[in-house]
Amino acid sequence: MHEGDGSKIRLLRDDDVPAAFELSSEAGWNQTEADWRLLLALARKSCFVIEADRQVVATTTLVCYERKLAWIGMVLTKREYRRRGMARRLLAEAMTQADQMGIETTKLDATDQGRPLYEELGFRAEQKIERWSRPGGTVVQIPAGVRAQETTLRELDLTPFGADRSLLLDLLSERNTPTRVSRSFLFARPGRVTAYLGPCVSETPGAARSLIKQCLQSTTCGWSWDLFPRNQDAVDSARNFGFAPQRQLTRMFRGKPLQQNEKAMYAIAGFELG
Ligand SMILES: CC(C)(COP(=O)(O)OP(=O)(O)OC[C@H]1O[C@@H](n2cnc3c(N)ncnc32)[C@H](O)[C@@H]1OP(=O)(O)O)[C@@H](O)C(=O)NCCC(=O)NCCS
Repeated sequence: MHEGDGSKIRLLRDDDVPAAFELSSEAGWNQTEADWRLLLALARKSCFVIEADRQVVATTTLVCYERKLAWIGMVLTKREYRRRGMARRLLAEAMTQADQMGIETTKLDATDQGRPLYEELGFRAEQKIERWSRPGGTVVQIPAGVRAQETTLRELDLTPFGADRSLLLDLLSERNTPTRVSRSFLFARPGRVTAYLGPCVSETPGAARSLIKQCLQSTTCGWSWDLFPRNQDAVDSARNFGFAPQRQLTRMFRGKPLQQNEKAMYAIAGFELG
């Protein structure tokens, strides 16, 4: 798809990952090249870029969790190409794809910069979501959890998340084994600037706290944790573990409202993943 200025929309490819990483780094985001590759593994046919002047200048990803829910993320435009309709074109492409696939609900976590555009496209605010962080040194190694087979992650995750994201959980498990206790789990992964805590799903605040404590205790690096301020237990834990709120985004949805159980979700998987 070409526009008059010679730019074209096409799918994100493996060899675009360094350029895509440069874009997210320029925006100050924490994603790594491995995070971009994860998006490709999840959604090879719905991660889009705009190529202009022989370079990737804008990106948008759409990850589908069956037909029930799709997640928009990595809406980024290179600074010198902003306000030329790049993000609008990519989002229109992603929404067309979602509609063609019969996706019931599309969600995203919007920065203040992105929000006006999403509102124009029919997204409505659902609730606030916050980035909390804990200072520390650079990320060296993230502790791995212990393998446990008794209950599949899918079983624990399906009801609170509201859609099947087992492929995502499998891919995250390949990167780092989650920590498990009773009917709760916690993932952690390296980030560009800080380590990333999440997703964490737990039936009780006590189990969530113990998982998080276990994960943090042997580390000296900085951490990021994205949580729902509505989940007071998550907020209290974050504060007790030395985290402080860093920025606030708005979770937005388009299509059928899909209730998720944020009381059981102590940490999301990422703003680009849900
Ligand atoms: C947000 C962002 C992706 C917009 O990209 P873009 O290619 O410049 O967006 P577009 O040119 O398609 O703009 C579409 C509309 O969005 C709104 N918009 C875009 N940037 C805006 C800004 N800085 N302030 C207010 N509204 C803005 C406007 O309504 C704009 O339409 P207009 O130019 O006709 O007024 C870009 O600024 C960016 O990469 N920001 C940093 C990362 C980020 O916050 N991404 C959003 C994640 S949710």
